[in-house]
Amino acid sequence: MEDIVNPQRYLERMSKPLQEKLKIAKYIPQGAGTSLDVGCADGTITLALADMYPEMSFVGIDLNEDFINIARGRIGERKNVSFEHGYLRERLANTERFDVVLFCSVLHEFYSYGEGISTIVKALSDAHEILGVGGTLIIRDMILYDYAGKSQLWLNEMKEKVMAKGESVDLMKDFERIFGTIQSIKQLNHFLLKYMYGDNWEREGKENYVPVSFEEYDQIFKLLGMQVMFQRSSTIPFLKDKWSNDFGFSEPELENFRSTGILVARK
Ligand SMILES: C[S@@+](CC[C@H](N)C(=O)[O-])C[C@H]1O[C@@H](n2cnc3c(N)ncnc32)[C@H](O)[C@@H]1O
Repeated sequence: MEDIVNPQRYLERMSKPLQEKLKIAKYIPQGAGTSLDVGCADGTITLALADMYPEMSFVGIDLNEDFINIARGRIGERKNVSFEHGYLRERLANTERFDVVLFCSVLHEFYSYGEGISTIVKALSDAHEILGVGGTLIIRDMILYDYAGKSQLWLNEMKEKVMAKGESVDLMKDFERIFGTIQSIKQLNHFLLKYMYGDNWEREGKENYVPVSFEEYDQIFKLLGMQVMFQRSSTIPFLKDKWSNDFGFSEPELENFRSTGILVARK
């Protein structure tokens, strides 16, 4: 994986929407005993969940060894959480199986820094394998619907509003160089999820934030024989306000855009 230029800033950005991210807690089924947090970074989410569910035990794994060391340093007195460096796949050789596997804001990175869709399919197959029977897979990430890819309603007007803000012009040009001309609401939505990271554009610009649609996740879960229990698409209020303030979008226009998807599937 590409080096993170400013790890401190990266970690702060990750943990900022903590309360938003912790909404995943309510999808942990009653009676679950063990949970694996894949791509846990500095352990912010894992530790918060471990505090919310003291009767459960949590393992966080990440490819970044520095992050794992930071996470270990934050465990304190807790007895129900541990952190390990490495790939999910490496754990399949162990007999240990989990009641819950969590992917929080990670699968788009698997896609961008791995081998695209095959890395996602492999990660979800590995998660399926490491879950016990009846286990629950929880994904939280930036996920859009494919049908938004076809929608063009008000597209030109909304694109003009974005371009009217001078500093967006160069970012949009570069975005279109990487991902192609914005010709749908889905593509504009993708741009809106990333223009605020202009100061780290070198890394963020190239990442595909929305590589797998809800419809595609459905297909993957079907192949894996998993049942989708819950699916939700929403917009973090902070982003809705930001898009409205930055570009003057009206409420009906804002309704076109989403920031967050949650998917819960059972083995
Ligand atoms: C955007 S952060 C998310 C951190 C945390 N889950 C959260 O939501 O705050 C993504 C993390 O995934 C890790 N990561 C990326 N690819 C990975 C892989 N193949 N296996 C394990 N971790 C990975 C990165 O090192 C990074 O710490």
